[in-house]
Amino acid sequence: MAVASTHSDQPPVPFIDLVAQYHTIKDQVRRAVDQVFETQQFVLGDEVRLLEEEIAQYCDARYAIGCASGTDALVLSLLALGVGPGDEVITSPFTFFATAGAIHRVGAVPRFVDIEPVTYNLNAELVEEAINEKTKAIIPVHIFGQCADMESLWRISVRHNLPIVEDACQAIGAEYRGRRAGVLGTVGCFSFFPTKNLGGAGDGGIITTDDAEVAARLKRLRVHGDVGGYTHVEVGFNSRLDALQAAVLRVKLQHLDSWSDARRRNAKRYNELLREADLLSAVDAPAVAADQVHVYNQYTLRIKGGRRDQVMKYLRGEGVGCAVYYPISLHMQECFSYLGCRAEDYPESTRASAEVLSLPIFSELTDAQLQRVVNVLQDATAEITTLKLPDVDQTSQRRAA
Ligand SMILES: Cc1ncc(COP(=O)(O)O)c(C=O)c1O
Repeated sequence: MAVASTHSDQPPVPFIDLVAQYHTIKDQVRRAVDQVFETQQFVLGDEVRLLEEEIAQYCDARYAIGCASGTDALVLSLLALGVGPGDEVITSPFTFFATAGAIHRVGAVPRFVDIEPVTYNLNAELVEEAINEKTKAIIPVHIFGQCADMESLWRISVRHNLPIVEDACQAIGAEYRGRRAGVLGTVGCFSFFPTKNLGGAGDGGIITTDDAEVAARLKRLRVHGDVGGYTHVEVGFNSRLDALQAAVLRVKLQHLDSWSDARRRNAKRYNELLREADLLSAVDAPAVAADQVHVYNQYTLRIKGGRRDQVMKYLRGEGVGCAVYYPISLHMQECFSYLGCRAEDYPESTRASAEVLSLPIFSELTDAQLQRVVNVLQDATAEITTLKLPDVDQTSQRRAA
């Protein structure tokens, strides 16, 4: 389908620009990396220990344990809590694959619960009916950088004596009633994937907890179950954090709050521009609960009228970066077909996967770039409505049929 181009002479707006951010901290990063090379201590060691202390302090947690990725943070946490074969773990189907993948990896079964449509977070009202004698944990995902309904989930977890593993991979610094993500459950899992708000120079992750026993188990699970002196009390993994990552992350942590502020300013500006452009009947902007601080790892719109893929194509055609997180609800992933789920079992997750579109939100965006994104979005919706273009294929809807 050809859609006329109206702004092709304008400079493109990338979806994310990690180079722009790097240039603001280049000297600090280089010095930190050089210091690691001078020590030649590349795995765990002082840099990792210092990062762990700083993240624990940042989240107001007693312990933080670095590991190789956000995925490993989830896997290690589930194992440390004793989740294994035959168990079920409740989670959202509207998340990055790793959340459910980690449950499968420890031999347990993901038990999906639908999301609520405004925040795209796990619908706490539906959680209790999914609990049975096999349920061993709940993993709420703070999707796009806004915390799930933790108060309701805590009540449920206490009533049923179930630990909560926060998937806070997208939400470092997010606040729920004045407390930061990572201390709102039994353990909190974070990813340092480069595109996260606190991103490393490769893969990395960290787990926060206030529980001394869980922390001790996590520490040995990341080093083959070793409690020191080559004494292995259980079989673990090699899931250590590199000192080079820790050194880069320690530099970036000093800037995290100002970067998150910039993301929030960008989101606020988008909201104003969308209102001014009279687009709020065509799209739903992200909604933030009064008692929450969102960190906008993503700024995600719901495009109404079944035209998401056309809008995405138009934006990209005009050089405006955008992305769909996530195009296939996890209950419809082929690898989980053994669960026997149908699209309509989780209608809100299925609908979201067909309707959401994330816009550029990175900290270094200029006002001109924000305006251009909204101008192009306005043109896209006008053009698509005027031409009455047919719907393009929507994978999740096709799978729903
Ligand atoms: C919600 C969520 N969970 C888990 C992960 C996994 O993190 P990683 O890519 O560091 O393994 C990510 C990040 O990609 C994520 O966004």
